Amino acid sequence: MKRILVLFAHPALQQSRANRSLLKAIDGMPGVTLHDLYQLYPDQMIDAAREQAQLAAHDIIVFQHPFYWFSAPALLKEWCDMVLQYGYAYGEEATALQGKQWLSAITTGGTAQSYTPEGYNRHPTIDYLLPYRQTASLCGMTWLPPFVMHSFDASHDNIDVDQVGREYRRLLEALRDDRLPTQRLAEVTYLRELLEEC
Ligand SMILES: Cc1cc2nc3c(=O)[nH]c(=O)nc-3n(C[C@H](O)[C@H](O)[C@H](O)COP(=O)(O)O)c2cc1C
Repeated sequence: MKRILVLFAHPALQQSRANRSLLKAIDGMPGVTLHDLYQLYPDQMIDAAREQAQLAAHDIIVFQHPFYWFSAPALLKEWCDMVLQYGYAYGEEATALQGKQWLSAITTGGTAQSYTPEGYNRHPTIDYLLPYRQTASLCGMTWLPPFVMHSFDASHDNIDVDQVGREYRRLLEALRDDRLPTQRLAEVTYLRELLEEC
């Protein structure tokens, strides 16, 4: 069984609908550690040594957050800046994160249609994740197709949040138990495309 660390970043969890449901869906899952950055660091002072110890104890790192300005809430950027240090995460002698898997699990306000050339966001969601993909690469981590959950705007209350939560849990279980069809990972853009196969 692989060990999963969910690095969770949401600055206003009490107002959250999507991420709160997703957390509920994976609550108590064996092999999964929830690491709520805004709760752990209300002063935003990241303890790099503590974070690196957490990383060492896990095989899969899930970066779960709402999409904020086509990126992550600020504390996750701070986490990257403080934790992914030269000599630890990257550089000639750096092997600490080699082979660990990186999964971005993101909720967006925009619909899937908005993230098309015709839509107001103009580019596919995956394109906006390029800095994370390259960060994973530089750290020797394996980038997984992201788990993207669109349409979580206040006006889109037709989304079945519980269903999305069940899908999230199923995919994390498959990752944890090594049941993802690895040969198919390179063929899909988003992890949800593999849902039926795991
Ligand atoms: C500061 C801020 C920036 C946002 N930026 C984006 C964005 O760039 N793209 C997008 O699709 N949604 C954006 N949203 C909408 C959020 O992604 C959406 O409300 C969130 O994913 C819903 O999850 P929650 O219910 O857990 O908060 C933004 C929301 C806020 C508050």
